[in-house]
Amino acid sequence: MGSEKIVLPLLPLRDIVVFPFMVLPLFVGREKSILALEKSMSEKKSVFLSAQRNSSNNEPQPTDIYETGTIANILQILKLTDGTMKVLVEGLQRGRIESFVKNSDYFEVEINRIHENDQLTPEVKALMRSVGTVFDQYVKLNQKIPLDAIAASTNILEPHRYADTIASYMVFQTQEKQELLETLNPRDRLNKLLSILKSEMEVLKIEKRVHGRVRKQMERSQKEFYLNEQIKAIQKELGKRDEFKTDMDELKQKIKKAKMPKEIHEKATKELKRLELMQPMSAEATVARTYIEWLADLPWKKGAGAGKIKIPEAQKILDQDHYGLEKVKERITEHLAVMKLVKKIKGPIICLAGPPGVGKTSLGQSIAKAMGRKFIRISLGGVRDEAEIRGHRRTYIGALPGKIIQGIKKSGVHNPVFMLDEIDKMNADFRGDPSSALLEVLDPEQNFSFNDHYLEVDYDLSNVLFICTANVLHSIPQPLLDRMEVLRLPGYTDQEKMGIAKNFLLPKKVPEHGLTKKNIEITDKALDSIIHNYTRESGVRNLEREIATLCRKVVKIVVEKGKKTSIKITPSVLKNFLGIPKFTRPEHEGPLEIGTATGLAWTEFGGETLSIEVSVISGNGKLVPTGQLGDVMKESAQAAMTYVRSRASDFGMSKNFYQKNDFHIHIPEGAVPKDGPSAGITMAVALVSALTKTPLRPEVAMTGELTLTGKVLPIGGLKEKVLAAHRFGITRLIIPAENEKDIPDIPENVRKNIEFFPATTMDDVIKHSFHKKFKTKKKITVPKNKKPAKISSKQPSLHLS
Ligand SMILES: Nc1ncnc2c1ncn2[C@@H]1O[C@H](COP(=O)(O)OP(=O)(O)OP(=O)(O)O)[C@@H](O)[C@H]1O
Ligand SMILES: [Mg+2]
Repeated sequence: MGSEKIVLPLLPLRDIVVFPFMVLPLFVGREKSILALEKSMSEKKSVFLSAQRNSSNNEPQPTDIYETGTIANILQILKLTDGTMKVLVEGLQRGRIESFVKNSDYFEVEINRIHENDQLTPEVKALMRSVGTVFDQYVKLNQKIPLDAIAASTNILEPHRYADTIASYMVFQTQEKQELLETLNPRDRLNKLLSILKSEMEVLKIEKRVHGRVRKQMERSQKEFYLNEQIKAIQKELGKRDEFKTDMDELKQKIKKAKMPKEIHEKATKELKRLELMQPMSAEATVARTYIEWLADLPWKKGAGAGKIKIPEAQKILDQDHYGLEKVKERITEHLAVMKLVKKIKGPIICLAGPPGVGKTSLGQSIAKAMGRKFIRISLGGVRDEAEIRGHRRTYIGALPGKIIQGIKKSGVHNPVFMLDEIDKMNADFRGDPSSALLEVLDPEQNFSFNDHYLEVDYDLSNVLFICTANVLHSIPQPLLDRMEVLRLPGYTDQEKMGIAKNFLLPKKVPEHGLTKKNIEITDKALDSIIHNYTRESGVRNLEREIATLCRKVVKIVVEKGKKTSIKITPSVLKNFLGIPKFTRPEHEGPLEIGTATGLAWTEFGGETLSIEVSVISGNGKLVPTGQLGDVMKESAQAAMTYVRSRASDFGMSKNFYQKNDFHIHIPEGAVPKDGPSAGITMAVALVSALTKTPLRPEVAMTGELTLTGKVLPIGGLKEKVLAAHRFGITRLIIPAENEKDIPDIPENVRKNIEFFPATTMDDVIKHSFHKKFKTKKKITVPKNKKPAKISSKQPSLHLS
């Protein structure tokens, strides 16, 4: 270890020990130090760096400064704005202060350079390796040291430099660093470094452990908190379980009380067991619970059979509630009698068919009353999904039983009178055909084990008395129709309406409004006027409504004038109560317009008269049908046209009359779609009238299908049509000869007022329609077995069949 002396300015350091080969920035603020730096810079000399023994000493004396330090090069100086300096220094070599040079401005010291003396003995090598390994771990453990410290140190082969480099990277106390600096023998230095490293490692490990422990501590308290929360949740849940348990007990009781058949009882208990294992609030549990409730709520207990019905009493009840309808009531009592005898309903299902307001629903209610049974009604109007009848499978969200089972549950008994309203308004579509499900419901051979998709178990419907209602029959699927016995309620004549009003509607409505018989008296003439001028319907619903209106108006007067007030309603005061008449009775004395004929239609609202108008204008032979005519009707207009053309000469027209004219056929009330073949003869007559400029007899109306050769084919719904014609004041009615057989069905007082003219050919029709005589063709015979064309149009239209 050699030495040589030099004089250098001294920079006392606070808290830092600079090793050789170390490059680092220093911040210099003390005046003395700044002067020392300036001196060194001006003489291009190095500087001596040595640490203060006490870093807080601002005015250190020579004795306060360690003798051993490092000679360093100044690489860069930066003057900062606050007067201090930032100096980048690079340690070069150890040095030892021999003496302080007298200098009042800054420290200047005489230095002994210390040269290193490396001896690469195996021991030193081993030491270096050990230091390397520990340093490696140390760096990895201590996040404050950059990882490149390892890279920077590995390639150094000189032991002294190796030790110094590693020491410079390490973070430990100034005191220890100084000791390391003062250890001049590289082997000793490595030894010391190793022990420092090891103890640092220990400290680090302990630090880590403490850290871990603290974290664990924190985790534990968090865990405790979490577990506590869980316990709370579980306890809450346990409370729910209690609630759930009482729920379960209730369900169990319900099942017991329901008196289900054995296998259904088994199913319900099985389902209940499943439910008990479920999460109480889960969706699954809700589904299971609803299902069990359905099973338990359905009436399973067999009640009184049909044997208890007393026929005379039943007859009495039917008569009490309904005026007229003798045939229907008779058929119903027969049905009840059969049921009483066989104790089961095996016969066909009754279907009450007729226009609105003729008492279908109320008849159903009466039947239930007569049998002493509950009455339940569901509407099938607009049902187009099989599942609406038969229910949805439980796998669907929000699944429920179908309308049948729902109705049974609502009735609360297993043997209600069950009315299936508007069976003709049911539709089939891609979701399946509801009528096929209904077939099963209505078939006595099958319905003892009706299977609802939701219930899954069979329900016995054989004690239910089903009654269907429909406005029209042609839209009821044939297989369904086959299972029904249709009882037609075609609508009421004026006389019947009068009877219903006097004997049923008034006695019902008057007390309903808090009035007595003495308060209100309606003369026959007034009633007749209400029927004719304020309503035009087959049933009595509007009549009932008008009577209710009258009652309301009378109530107002009675309230004003006192309870004793008595009001007599005559035709002349009617207007004050009901307003201006809505319909006026057609006057048939005056002539009809040329080109106009009266036809008859049959709709779901009953029979209807309709006026057909033809206008001939110059053109080129076009036929223009307007008023929303359906295809069948348009074809029938064409047929009528062809017929008239073929008979042109008989009507006194030139053969090519049609080439110069257009023919406009219109049926007023354009907004209502109309279809069907039964206006054929009416259109032909209207054409003849327009072409020959001859008016029809005003009191005549007609209905019938026309063939191209002029034959008249039969039509449906004659009864309804005749009633409508009667309402309209028609006295001459031309009907297809084949419909003559239906005349006896028509109420007598109507028959009395209308003269029927059966027609086999168009010639007959022409003959009875005009006063004027046209030439007729030779007699043609009509084949007897010709059936009317079947119409499949199901749209709610004016069906002229
Ligand atoms: N023959 C009758 N005797 C007594 N009242 C009747 C008679 N016909 C109908 N009514 C009364 O007319 C009203 C309408 O009858 P209801 O509701 O039964 O008609 P509906 O045929 O079911 O009609 P919809 O096809 O519109 O359902 C009821 O108040 C009913 O009591
Ligand atoms: Mg009804």
